[in-house]
Amino acid sequence: MTEYSNTLAREIMERKSITNWTKQKCSMDVWELLLESARRAPSSWNHQPARYIILQNESNIQKLASAFHQTNKWATHAAGLIVQIADPDEDDRVAGKDYYLYDCGLAMMSLVYQAQLMGLSCRQMIGWDETLVKSLLNIPPNFRVVIITAIGYPSSSAFSQTSQELKRTLTQQHKRYGIKHISWWEQWNGEHIHDED
Ligand SMILES: Cc1cc2nc3c(=O)[nH]c(=O)nc-3n(C[C@H](O)[C@H](O)[C@H](O)COP(=O)(O)O)c2cc1C
Repeated sequence: MTEYSNTLAREIMERKSITNWTKQKCSMDVWELLLESARRAPSSWNHQPARYIILQNESNIQKLASAFHQTNKWATHAAGLIVQIADPDEDDRVAGKDYYLYDCGLAMMSLVYQAQLMGLSCRQMIGWDETLVKSLLNIPPNFRVVIITAIGYPSSSAFSQTSQELKRTLTQQHKRYGIKHISWWEQWNGEHIHDED
């Protein structure tokens, strides 16, 4: 038994999507560990559909930002951007469900927690023009852009931390449905797993 048994992992408790990073870049070792964490994620029939394009060059980040929605321009302050892409035909499609999205999500979540463990913070985003992202990065037509994740070392400045927290509260970013709202024993709408919420 480790000291962690029956406790929520610190990385899960402390993870949050931020936009206030320092200027510090990620080292090559860090990029490799992040990609390794994504690479080890499970996928349907081990199809491993996710591919990654990493941007850390300032001017390339600025160019890509021309494809971002106005509300996502904060991403230019990140140390780097991870563009996750996949070819849907390389993964299962079951009863109309495209599993490349699920598999890509698993890989990205693994990366996000590895990042958290290393003192980095991520913010994922879907607010961009896919056609423009594909053309700016020379992505082949059969690939879809799944998610763009901004990553960096969180700023410790009191001002930026306070304004982030204020923004989080205003947008209710910290709020989650209670366990009672999302789960039941044995069947849909059965007994609740958790009595209080
Ligand atoms: C698939 C996905 C898409 C997202 N897209 C955006 C986005 O376009 N812009 C943005 O500011 N945040 C985006 N987010 C961040 C979410 O708003 C954030 O994860 C959510 O509010 C919960 O906050 P937390 O991650 O701090 O717990 C996205 C997150 C995910 C997982």
